Amino acid sequence: MAFPKNFLWGTATAAHQVEGGNTASDLWLMEMMKDSIFEEPSGDACDHYHLYERDIALLAGLGLTTYRFSIEWARIEPEEGFFSKAALDHYRRMIATCHALRVTPMVTFHHFTAPLWFTRDGGWENPKSVDRFARYCEAAGRALGDLIPYICTINEANIPIMVTMMRRAVGIGGGGGKRERALAEAARLCGGEAGKFSPYLSGDGIASAPNLIAAHRKGYGVLKGLTRAQVGITIALNNFQCEPGGEELFATADHAINGQFLESLKGDDFVGVQTYTRVRFGKDGVLPPPEGSERTQMGYEFYPESLEATIRQAASVTGCPVIVTENGIGTQDDTRRIAYTERALAGVLRCLASGIDVRGYIHWSMLDNFEWLEGYRPKFGLVEVDRATQARKPKPSAYWLGAVAKANALR
Ligand code: BGC
Repeated sequence: MAFPKNFLWGTATAAHQVEGGNTASDLWLMEMMKDSIFEEPSGDACDHYHLYERDIALLAGLGLTTYRFSIEWARIEPEEGFFSKAALDHYRRMIATCHALRVTPMVTFHHFTAPLWFTRDGGWENPKSVDRFARYCEAAGRALGDLIPYICTINEANIPIMVTMMRRAVGIGGGGGKRERALAEAARLCGGEAGKFSPYLSGDGIASAPNLIAAHRKGYGVLKGLTRAQVGITIALNNFQCEPGGEELFATADHAINGQFLESLKGDDFVGVQTYTRVRFGKDGVLPPPEGSERTQMGYEFYPESLEATIRQAASVTGCPVIVTENGIGTQDDTRRIAYTERALAGVLRCLASGIDVRGYIHWSMLDNFEWLEGYRPKFGLVEVDRATQARKPKPSAYWLGAVAKANALR
């Protein structure tokens, strides 16, 4: 039941979800405007921008050895072509803090949010996004790369197309024109052209998919040229399952959402697998979770076995070593977090036993944080956050995962 030597044990966050005050980003505008599609704005979030040292020390104290977090493009390049030395210095201090506390930093360069100027000009739907991202990778890679052992270029590059296809297939996130109205209003507020404002998760993911694939390839080349980091990307891999009658839809969705991305990664240093549940395709389209099944706060089926399946898929299509860069559950009941994680890790062990090169497990998330459209309601954290005082309180699951990490085994 033991994991390999040097297995990475960690937990993850993303800048916009924890830092607070990400005012130059596209989502800040979307969250703050009247008739926002967000439940509530991110605001000060967990003030991780100022409290990172305390948070990384907490993670290390639990026995975890890896911290995956993102640097915020909107802070680093708040206006096109202006790279903030102050912001880069901030992230340099943050990465240095990881090293000082013997924590391995894994740094994501793009985790959903982007600078407002980028999104106003078409975001990832605009083919210019490829060179814009590469230029940002070059600036951040030069400033920080010597301190980073692992880089994830883009978080869940396939999630825009997943969201778009799901919206069209089953109306998930459709919202009766509310999204379209919000995009039009955001464009107006920032002086952009109508129809062009395209945030990562609310734009046309079918149009952005080829640019995201190309941006990763170009960013990968830039970062490999500038740094000695292991460079990869992370993919949102829910376990797609086919029920009778769903064959055609399953095949189309699996290729568009998973296959075309995984196939473009051959030769990368690793592939980051991010899994939360399974999605079943039947003759009437995407099926709801089975009757009577347990659901998480996100409405997902409680199905930790999905991770084993997605690791197998990622490894067999890409041929790359796998790092689980996200896996977790939104729940108020921390005993279910432990149960979920234990079953997911048992799946990781079965993958290892069958010879798959899995190099780490990074749990989402370190802190209860800003869960995008849903606001602060879903609780994914190993650590509870009192947002009035910014006090942190590790949950039993945090100590449990720390003990697994220290033992490097499931007992
Ligand atoms: C994202 C996280 C998010 C998590 C839980 C992933 O898709 O990378 O930012 O909080 O899922 O929904």
